Amino acid sequence: MKKNISPSILSADFTNIIEQIKIVERAGATRLHIDVMDGHFVPNLTFGPFIIKQIRALTKIHFETHLMIENPDKYLQHYIDSGSDTVIFHYEASNDIERDINIIKKNNVLAGLAINPDTNPEVLIPYLDNIDYILIMSVYPGFGGQSFIEKTLETMKRLVDLKEQRNILIGVDGGINLNTIKKVYKTGIDITIVGSALYKAENINDQFKKLLNA
Ligand code: DX5
Ligand code: ZN
Repeated sequence: MKKNISPSILSADFTNIIEQIKIVERAGATRLHIDVMDGHFVPNLTFGPFIIKQIRALTKIHFETHLMIENPDKYLQHYIDSGSDTVIFHYEASNDIERDINIIKKNNVLAGLAINPDTNPEVLIPYLDNIDYILIMSVYPGFGGQSFIEKTLETMKRLVDLKEQRNILIGVDGGINLNTIKKVYKTGIDITIVGSALYKAENINDQFKKLLNA
C-alpha cells in the first residue's frame, strides 16, 4: 500500500487557512489531520466543532479529527456533525470505549482509537474488530513541534503485527520530519501525521513531496 501523509493544520497559518489547505491538496494530500484539545486531557486548547464545520465548507478532503479531550462521549456527536470523516478519541480519555466507538460508527463515520507513548499497545486488542483507525502518538500530545520518541517504534511494529489482515489504517502522530519519517514507515504503518515539519517549511509543496519520497 502506498504510504500517506496527513498534514496537521495545528501548525498551519490560520489567517490564510483556505490557501494552507489548498497547497497540501495540490501537492497530493488526500487527508487532513485536525487536532482538538480541551485544556484538560492535554495542557492546550484548539478548535471546537464550529471551526471544523467552517473549514468543511472549503474542501472535500478526508478530515481525520483527533480528539485530545476528556469524556469524549459528551462531544462526539458535535465533531461528527461538523463533517469529520474519521473521529479519533484517546484510549486514556474514555470511560467506555465500546460505547464511544459505537456512537461514531452508527453515524457512518470511521472510528479511531489513539494511544499515548507510554500506553501498552496490547490494550487495543479487544477493540481491533470494531475500529477503522489506530493513531499511535510518538510525542506526548498537546503541542506541535516536539521531538520524536524513539521507543514508540516498538509500539508501531507491535500494532502492525496485531492488526493482521484487518482493514485498519495505522497512523503515527508527532515529531515526524525528514529525519524520522523513514524509520516510521519501515515499521509498516500506513499514515504519518506531519505538522511543523510541513507547515513551517519554506516551500510547503516541495516539502510534502520530499516527505512522500523520503
Ligand atoms: C500533538 C498533535 C499532533 C501535532 C503534530 O499533540 O496531536 O497532531 O500536530 O505536530 P508535529 O508534526 O509538529 O509534531
Ligand atoms: Zn494529532
